[in-house]
This record gives sequence, C-alpha cells and structure tokens, in this order.
Amino acid sequence: MDKTIELVNNIKDLQAMPSVIVRVLNVMKKPTVSMKELGDIVMYDQSLTIKILALVNSAYYGFSQQISSIQIALSLLGMVKVKNIIVAVAMKPMMSNAGDKDLWKHSIRVAAGCEYLAKLTKIMDADEAFIAGFIHDIGKMVLHTTNPKMYAKVIEVVNSGAAPILDVEKKYFDSDHVRTGSLLAKRWQLPILLANVVSYHHNPSLSSIPVPCSLVGAIDMLMQDVFNPNLLDKDFFKSLGIDLDDTEELRKVIWQKADLLISELT
Ligand SMILES: [Fe+2]
Ligand SMILES: [Fe+2]
Repeated sequence: MDKTIELVNNIKDLQAMPSVIVRVLNVMKKPTVSMKELGDIVMYDQSLTIKILALVNSAYYGFSQQISSIQIALSLLGMVKVKNIIVAVAMKPMMSNAGDKDLWKHSIRVAAGCEYLAKLTKIMDADEAFIAGFIHDIGKMVLHTTNPKMYAKVIEVVNSGAAPILDVEKKYFDSDHVRTGSLLAKRWQLPILLANVVSYHHNPSLSSIPVPCSLVGAIDMLMQDVFNPNLLDKDFFKSLGIDLDDTEELRKVIWQKADLLISELT
C-alpha cells in the first residue's frame, strides 16, 4: 500500500472532522443560510459562545461598543468570519493533541497573516484567506501522531536549516505533510480552495488556483518561529509592491495581531 494512505489509515482520530465543523460547513453550503441557523449552532456550544463574545469584544476586531449577545456578534462580524472562528476554535483540541506543540498557534498566525495581507492588497477575499491559512498544515497532524519523537527530530533538522521540510519528512516518514494533508482534505471533503492550499502551499505554481496557494506559502515562511528572510518568496512580495526590507516589520505587525487572537481563543 502507498505509504501516505497507510499513515492516514492508521490514525483513526483524524478520519472524521470534528462534528461542529461538519455542521457549520454544511450550513454554510446552503445558499439561503440564515444568521439564526448559525446562531443556533453556536449557542448550542457554550464554550464557543463565550469565545466568540470574548473575541468580538477584543481589540482584534476593534468594535467600540460592548457586545453581549451572540446574535449581535454574528451580525457585526458577519457569518463567514464567525464560521472561521468556529473552525479555529473547534480544531484546537485536535491540533493540540495531534500536532507538534505549536501547530495550532502557527496555524492562527498564518491565518491572521493571510487575512491581513488579503485585505491590504485585495488579491483575494480576506475571510477565505483566513481559513486557507489556518488549514494549510493539517497534514502535519498525521506525521506527528504517527511518531511524535521522530517528528520532533524532523523539526529540529528543519530549524537547523539543513534541508527543506518536505525533504526531511520524506526521509524520516517516506511521505510528507503535503501528501498526508491532501489525503485528509479529500477524506474530509474540504472545498477545492482549501484542498489546493493544503496540497500546493509549498509549490504554488503547480496549482490551478495559484494566488491563494502563493499567499499562504509566502505568509507561512514569514511566520515561521525561526525567521529566515532568505526563504521568503521574493517575487511574490514584489508583485504585491512589498519591499523585502519591509517584511520584518510586516511580520511584527501580524505576530501582534495573531497574539490577540490566540489569547482570546485559548
Ligand atoms: Fe507546510
Ligand atoms: Fe506552515
């Protein structure tokens, strides 16, 4: 059997998406979804209600008045943003259990960065950019769960700058997080945009929708724990009119924004 299929099949916990996400994605697929339907899902889950209210009142969104009703929060944030928050909150336990210890935080940072840059440059919808950034590394959960110690070794080698992550993963696991992620995306029936980002964020030019893949790939490198400007996609930043000298400042701005989100969602 193909090694990637074997790895994914061995991890039963990752076979199904958390049920709240399935419910939210299904509700959002309907063309006439109402605020009330989404509100009902949120209110059914108390910790989600608390987190959404905390978030809508936080500096990340910057509303001036105090908001205490979930329906008002929904109408202020909009349904797509609320969907994104639900996914980010609902996947936290899964990512924290199955990911290397900072996978969830890294995912939030890339999500916040994609949202920020999409809004700034208008190259794609900012809400879609957020969820694309959040989901990009789901394949890492498969490798980490298969052998946490070996995956820690992979990260160590990658952080030393010895080789690109996909090469190191291939050496240790005979697969990589792009392959395992692509298979998970298929099993979870993720929308085409998200499946593409999972499959091509390390190789955007191979995708039929390269813009979101390039955005996620570029922000992914910008938001690494160990920042290496040499790994940045210079051409992409240039195409957006962003000078390479300004990327460190951009990283700082995004990091701070993401920290607000992380502290409200933790
Ligand atoms: Fe990745
Ligand atoms: Fe990443």
